[in-house]
Amino acid sequence: VHGVPPSLSAKVVGSFAYLTVRDRLPTILTKVIDTIHRNKNKFFEEYGEEGIEAEKQTISLLSKLRNELQTDKPILAVTDGLQDTESWNQYLQRHQRLQGDVSWFKSPWLYVECYMYRRIQEAVWLNPPISDYDVFNEGKTQSFFESQQAVMTLCTYLENVNKSLAELSKNQLLEHFNKLLQVSLWGNKCDLSISAGQDNSQKMSPIDSLNSLQPFILVDDSSMVWTSLQRPGQPGKTTAVRVDVVLDNAGFELVTDLVFADFLVSSGLVHEVHFHGKSFPWFVSDVTAKDFQWTIRQTMAANHKWMSKSGVQWQSYLKEGVWFYHDHPFWTQPHEFCDMAADAPDLYATLQGADLVLFKGDLNYRKLTSDREWDHTVSFGTALRGFGPAPLCSLRTLKANVQVGLQQGHGEKLTSQEPDWMTSGKYAVIQFYSPKSE
Ligand code: F6P
Ligand code: MG
Repeated sequence: VHGVPPSLSAKVVGSFAYLTVRDRLPTILTKVIDTIHRNKNKFFEEYGEEGIEAEKQTISLLSKLRNELQTDKPILAVTDGLQDTESWNQYLQRHQRLQGDVSWFKSPWLYVECYMYRRIQEAVWLNPPISDYDVFNEGKTQSFFESQQAVMTLCTYLENVNKSLAELSKNQLLEHFNKLLQVSLWGNKCDLSISAGQDNSQKMSPIDSLNSLQPFILVDDSSMVWTSLQRPGQPGKTTAVRVDVVLDNAGFELVTDLVFADFLVSSGLVHEVHFHGKSFPWFVSDVTAKDFQWTIRQTMAANHKWMSKSGVQWQSYLKEGVWFYHDHPFWTQPHEFCDMAADAPDLYATLQGADLVLFKGDLNYRKLTSDREWDHTVSFGTALRGFGPAPLCSLRTLKANVQVGLQQGHGEKLTSQEPDWMTSGKYAVIQFYSPKSE
């Protein structure tokens, strides 16, 4: 049996984790402070004195947080007493037992990065008049609007596919499946945490660029994804095929996920889609329930025939119980997914009901593989360490130093040609695993 390699951590000076904790995270905090300050007329002053006080308090808590981070102070207990507080504090105690010193630069990167977002939320929640405020909302809505052209192109493509469904051969259907799967994959380029909140919207046509992007897909298990959705024709037996999508970013990426889900349902390949989002603002651009509803409403209201038609369709899928939106506190905890069965058995059981679970994005990949220094040739199944509620697939552009399941020598070759291949967002994987094949 292989030992489990160490977690990625900022203690490796010069590593991507180190640079993230040193540079990217403080920049994100500074932006959050600036956003709150800039919006004080709009959001806080309606609460009068209390609102102004809340704004000041929140900013002071966030400045304190930034200072703790930059001076490598110990990780502190969460104090707002909300539903997940106890589990965060137990997690901290577990690390203190294992590690002694738990601090920003000495502990696992995955843990401290997740913790920062929880502490941002604590600062907001401790100040009731603004406890609803999403500090990342501006960036998310802006990136949606800046991707309008790409969204229209995509909705028009979807309309054309849906119109022609009746005449499509199985092969043509497969072709569209692969295209829309890849659009959803590359949609993951558009997250706002890698760029520390800089513009990162989709400007090119998402369909036309697929061919030129193909060579950058390092692992392409799309045929297994397709196969996982096929039902052998059993007359009289109609078990509904269900796909769960563990969402990542709002903005263009979310639209690509909705378009793919629309295709899966309209083509008859899938009968039910369950989306999983975050219960509070997370990693700058991740989807919350509000973002999900907002995006569908915006799409419905668009001044573009196929875009608004898509939005109306999506709304009715939700109404009719074809699509579902869920959130669960586990998604905003720092746990590696191999802990899900023990730490969130209800969520694990939910995912077990799916025929396929799609995990969008880089952070989900880090959690799937426990964010560790795996050898690149270790199999995806090994790195999952027993996690496998259902057949699953990661759709991820590479933005962190973890990549498994490569052929012998492939990782070394990439490293010699492009030292930052794992963190530039230029490469991607469609990586599949089925617990049944073990
Ligand atoms: O630090 C950059 C980063 O925040 C990574 O830590 C993280 O994995 C990624 O960006 C977020 O990407 P995604 O939205 O694809 O999960
Ligand atoms: Mg994200």
